[in-house]
Amino acid sequence: MFQQLEAAPPDAILGLNEAFARDTTEGKINLTTGVYKDSTGTTPVLECVKEAERRLVETETSKGYLGIDGMKEFGDAARGLLFGTDHEINTSGRAATIQAPGGTGALRVAAEFLATGFPGAKIWCSRPTWANHPNIFRAAGLEVAEYGYYDESTRGLDAEALFDSLSQIPAGDVVCLHACCHNPTGVDPSAEQWQQVGDLIAERGLLPLVDFAYQGFGNGLDDDAAGLRALARPGSRLLVASSFSKNFGLYRERVGALSVVTGSPETAAVVLSRLKRTIRCNYSNPPAHGAGIVTTILGDEQLRAGWVTELSEMRTRINDMRQALAHGLAEAAPGQDFSVITRQRGMFSFSGLTPEQVDRLKDEFGVYMVRNGRINVAGITNDNVARLCESIAAVV
Ligand code: LMR
Repeated sequence: MFQQLEAAPPDAILGLNEAFARDTTEGKINLTTGVYKDSTGTTPVLECVKEAERRLVETETSKGYLGIDGMKEFGDAARGLLFGTDHEINTSGRAATIQAPGGTGALRVAAEFLATGFPGAKIWCSRPTWANHPNIFRAAGLEVAEYGYYDESTRGLDAEALFDSLSQIPAGDVVCLHACCHNPTGVDPSAEQWQQVGDLIAERGLLPLVDFAYQGFGNGLDDDAAGLRALARPGSRLLVASSFSKNFGLYRERVGALSVVTGSPETAAVVLSRLKRTIRCNYSNPPAHGAGIVTTILGDEQLRAGWVTELSEMRTRINDMRQALAHGLAEAAPGQDFSVITRQRGMFSFSGLTPEQVDRLKDEFGVYMVRNGRINVAGITNDNVARLCESIAAVV
């Protein structure tokens, strides 16, 4: 029966790790998946996480199921990070939050909620966007379209194309936005541009689905939430898929949240009931450990302060590596302009390398990055940056 099936292609991002593992090139470099690595090239467990785990092991009394929507304290803490605890969205009770297995899980629940609640609504993604966005949305039955975002010639935001696109999207359609550290470009709107995006969304009656996977990796926790908060206006409706994979380093624990901001607590209860139905026939209820860690850290003043410090250390290291990459490339390939690398934010740099150049880097130098030219800056270290720059210089 199965012989007739065609093989699926490897995943555009995670599939590269498998090829990297098989590669025997000495000094090979993996800059594919968006995972933080420290100066030794290791993805560390944060100190605050270790301490929270110790406490959880000591105090945990049961491994019984969580509720379908997960832990309430976790949901409250997650929404607090998004909007600020005193925000009207949090005090009014007009938002429903569910605990999800990672940001991807949150996006999938969101997509199924949208597909069943608003049949016929399209979802619009930035051009380019995270390679998995269209996969997730289509798998849930949504039709995917694109809005203008990135300007190849300036390698910055194409604000005109963005605003033009938004002003032509039909009312009731969904717009997927990256809250900060846009994946893959590292290019975000300015504070004023976010206000304009918010104005257009309100005027046109569009529904934002904000993907917030990198809070704390741009400028800081509150700064990075400024775009989202520009959309969170009185009476606004929106969805936010947030992830704790990166900012707590909890990748394999699968911990994220979906918050749906409605017009009233009564509507939030209806939305929650629909989210729970979606979850129940998918993964039934979420895993507890990662969410327990996040809730423990955010609920303890000392652990929380430690986390903020560790997060800022990760951010600083990434920014240092950005500088090192730009500097190294300027020396290794003097004819080329790589200065834009220092203006991009978050984990990624959109290098401008073509798919053919990326293939050569892989085949000839054992340097792996996503085929669209996206480099995970967090995978660069003082030990590999020189080899990386020489390899890039050889192919441009
Ligand atoms: C990435 O873009 O590399 C990360 O978000 C990891 C993933 O799941 O693709």
